[in-house]
Amino acid sequence: LTVSIIIAEASLELVPNELQNHPSVRHEALRRNKSVSKILLDRSLHHSAMLRLENSEKRGRPDLVHMTLLQITCAPIFLNGKINAYVHTVNNEVMELENAVRIPKSYFRFQGLMEKLLAGGRSITEGKNLISLSKMTLPRLVQSIGARKVIGFSRLGQKKPLELIAEENIGAENVALVVGGFAKGTFSNETSSVLDCKYSISNYSLDSHVVCARVLYEFEKKILR
Ligand SMILES: C[S@@+](CC[C@H](N)C(=O)[O-])C[C@H]1O[C@@H](n2cnc3c(N)ncnc32)[C@H](O)[C@@H]1O
Repeated sequence: LTVSIIIAEASLELVPNELQNHPSVRHEALRRNKSVSKILLDRSLHHSAMLRLENSEKRGRPDLVHMTLLQITCAPIFLNGKINAYVHTVNNEVMELENAVRIPKSYFRFQGLMEKLLAGGRSITEGKNLISLSKMTLPRLVQSIGARKVIGFSRLGQKKPLELIAEENIGAENVALVVGGFAKGTFSNETSSVLDCKYSISNYSLDSHVVCARVLYEFEKKILR
């Protein structure tokens, strides 16, 4: 059994070209002594710059990606090497987190790490472990993982208890679990196209980090004992 978890369409990216002249962006770059092309797009700082940005509801929330990655990488199932974790961003950049990678708990340090990775365009080492970056669409990622079954999580999916979802798929050969890495909106058509099924685990619209924590725990209970 190979299980992968994919944070899809994650709202993590550097400030795009067309916004680099905006005062809020220039101000932040100046304050942090960084180039305007090497800082993360962040809605809490660049809200006014983002008003006319395409697909803007799925962009500029690196804080959500941070919380979600902490949930994943601190979970026993990940520490045990029983699950592979990937971040696929709104810009079709894919990060593969090597097992045991330590994501900084401090947002300030996470921000620096992501800026270095995205601006450098390849891979970086955090502690002894690597996060590698490549340009890839979600369908390509699913193909490269070799997933035979792709399960999407969405409030709009079929309502099903998580325990049952884990139970039903634990015998699968290679399964990928897909959770959205954005604050608002639903999966794009491209993302939906790779999903074999979509399940809802609550009537609430939950944050990605909560969904990931619960999904991982249910699979962990089946896998680690
Ligand atoms: C903050 S939500 C995105 C907002 C969107 N309104 C929604 O509910 O899908 C982030 C991600 O968490 C997952 N999610 C949120 N609520 C869920 C639910 N009730 N059941 C299953 N997955 C959920 C989905 O993968 C979603 O893309």
